[in-house]
Amino acid sequence: MRLVIIGSGYVGLVSGACLAELGHHVMCVDNDASKVEQLRAGQIPIYEPQLSEMISRNVAQGRLGFTSQLPALSKEIHAIMVAVGTPPRTNGSADLSAIFAVAQEVAAKAVHPQMVIIKSTVPVGTGDSVQALMHKARPGMHFSVISNPEFLREGSAIDDFMAPDRIVVGAGDETARNTLRALYAPLERTGTQVICMGRREAELVKCAANAFLATKIAFINEMADLCEAVGADVEEVAHGIGLDERIGAAFLQAGPGYGGSCFPKDTTALQAIAQEHGVNLRLVETVIASNEARKRSMGRRISKALHGDLTGRVVAVLGLTFKPDTDDMRDSPSLALIDALQRAGATVQVFDPQGMNRARMHLHDVHFADNAYLCAEGADCIALATHWPEFATLDAERLGQLVRKKVLVDLRNFLDPQAFLNAGFAVHAIGRPPQQPRRHNLVAAQRHRARNQAREAFINGA
Ligand code: UDX
Repeated sequence: MRLVIIGSGYVGLVSGACLAELGHHVMCVDNDASKVEQLRAGQIPIYEPQLSEMISRNVAQGRLGFTSQLPALSKEIHAIMVAVGTPPRTNGSADLSAIFAVAQEVAAKAVHPQMVIIKSTVPVGTGDSVQALMHKARPGMHFSVISNPEFLREGSAIDDFMAPDRIVVGAGDETARNTLRALYAPLERTGTQVICMGRREAELVKCAANAFLATKIAFINEMADLCEAVGADVEEVAHGIGLDERIGAAFLQAGPGYGGSCFPKDTTALQAIAQEHGVNLRLVETVIASNEARKRSMGRRISKALHGDLTGRVVAVLGLTFKPDTDDMRDSPSLALIDALQRAGATVQVFDPQGMNRARMHLHDVHFADNAYLCAEGADCIALATHWPEFATLDAERLGQLVRKKVLVDLRNFLDPQAFLNAGFAVHAIGRPPQQPRRHNLVAAQRHRARNQAREAFINGA
């Protein structure tokens, strides 16, 4: 199939690369000419594992291209996918102006009944508005507007696209549904379920899924607080409840609160659209408030670990991005943590394997270190904010020789507490006594293996 994807941000680029990998011909359009130049020169503006290789491969094989102008919408183009941003407005609702501008342009340039696939995360009812706008712009021309939300996680977006739990298609007419089925046929053949439903339902699936996952995280974070108060281990509790299939093991990792470009934005947008319709989503509202409070409270943990006074103290923050394997700093818990530390009078030194460039745009008056060991030099406390895999092999003994005071606050329960205790550190974890042996998360490991097998099966043409 031939596709045009409008918007070469995170979702557009990953979708474009993966759809080309599936054998389709994809032209990615972005109105940022300098970004397009960069992409044409083989420079990828975001950090995402496997993406760069996949883009180069498909560009070389002639299936993927980049342009800053919407190409002529000839009959050969089967569908236009919209993956432009829907940033939050000040009241929390989604700003849909980019979506509407694209719809207007496509309507003006269309030469035949065009299929428009909305990939961007949008509030329920957006597909209806887009369809109405396009029909008004070109009376008599039939446009089919389809909701096809993405469930990509940064850091594993390629695997998520190639072996998703499900593909959701929201379309009223059979032709549109069949076109989407054809688009994803290689994935359906390797076992992915494609589920078709109404457009409004599909729009809601995306927002409801994110709100539900955010709720799981907020819930386990509350349980972590309770575990600390009663001397229990939240990882054991998460393991115990997660094996109940009705609950599921994923997204029960206690930590500093969720961040990123989706959960904070999408939960607030869901709340805003519900309010617009006179519905009060009390649970979602509470989750948002609970997560905000959690992020802000992380500074107090460091302060407590240093006996209540941060004035003149040096804190080394390891990991800045909102999670590993991304350079994304949006709504990262590390930002709230560093702000709280600085307000309390601490000096902050930071290191992140991929996020340093973006972090420089967000952080002021911090010392940017070139690696984790340099970051720890002279610190009164090491705070692990993001669990980058490479931090797992940090040498606790060596860190112990570099710091001024041996205090570790592991906000992700990621480092081996025993190694740090042996090196003489006071160790503080989230929701668990640090001296207790850790349970390996078997369920997560199994799931990871299953995903990899599915991906390999696809690549090997099974
Ligand atoms: C999320 C959704 O998972 C994805 O389906 C959607 O399309 C976009 O939003 P993403 O934001 O990339 O993806 O990251 P995710 O892995 O979901 O993590 C979000 C935040 O929750 C991170 O800050 C992460 O550290 C935190 N988190 C996640 C936890 O604190 N505990 C968990 O158990 C899981």
